[in-house]
Amino acid sequence: MLNQNSIKKCLFPAAGYGTRFLPATKAIPKEMLPVLTKPLLQYGVEEAIEAGLDTMAIVTGRGKRAIEDHFDISYELEHQIKGSSKEKMLADIRNVIDHCTFSYTRQIEMKGLGHAILTGQTLIGNQPFAVILADDLCDNTGVSKGVLSQMVKLYEKHQCCIVAIEEVPKEQTNKYGVIAGEEIENNLYRVNDMIEKPDPKDAPSNLAIIGRYILIPEIFDVLQTTQPGKGGEIQITDALLTLAKQGKVLAYKFEGQRFDCGSVEGFVEATNYFYNKEN
Ligand code: UTP
Repeated sequence: MLNQNSIKKCLFPAAGYGTRFLPATKAIPKEMLPVLTKPLLQYGVEEAIEAGLDTMAIVTGRGKRAIEDHFDISYELEHQIKGSSKEKMLADIRNVIDHCTFSYTRQIEMKGLGHAILTGQTLIGNQPFAVILADDLCDNTGVSKGVLSQMVKLYEKHQCCIVAIEEVPKEQTNKYGVIAGEEIENNLYRVNDMIEKPDPKDAPSNLAIIGRYILIPEIFDVLQTTQPGKGGEIQITDALLTLAKQGKVLAYKFEGQRFDCGSVEGFVEATNYFYNKEN
């Protein structure tokens, strides 16, 4: 019988500069910007825990120390508010700290998402793992499970790489990795081509990859030899194409809603959405 919890580790590439949020991201990591009162990265970690993962591996960079402090106990603060009505505001983060472990490594040069994932190899080792880009904030209101839970379930069955996709307007394909593939089950595609940020005229479809992946350890070998692509960066899409050509990549049109919190517009949209949901 397959082990339902075979994926235990989740990698969070969080070393990017977040230039679209300057000056806010000059000293504060983009991943620590809050939607309401919770930082983006904490939403991602909670999604991973819901999917049964308990080991969080975070790729950070210079100026990102706030991330490590957030996923740690703050004795002074906790002592100060103990017994007050504010104590409950720390319940979620306390729960996160109690239920998983965190490890960190630094990406020294920001050479792209593929390079950030390769940097995380030292934390992941030789096992399948999930990747969450915390600036893609996902909500599963109205559907049973979070996006990563849905993907872990598929991994148990198919045992290969899985990327989450959604349909985007054709004119926006130049913001995403875009796949082409054959639909093998409802909402599940066997990928046979993928292109990073194609012009709409060159896009093989309007099925765009969002920031959720399940990867097999072979990806590290491929990334070692992947040359810089679009924007001079080492692209995970280019590395995945190598595995897709061997039939090892599925794309899953997930259930739920995604907000592009890497853009100011998407961030505002998410804030309004979560505010309306909670009030
Ligand atoms: P983005 O493309 O959103 O880049 O990265 P960015 O630098 O964070 O933001 P902008 O475009 O300058 O505003 C997507 C994800 O990949 C991580 C980022 O932290 C983000 O989670 N990333 C990107 C790295 O960890 N390292 C890199 O070299 C590039």
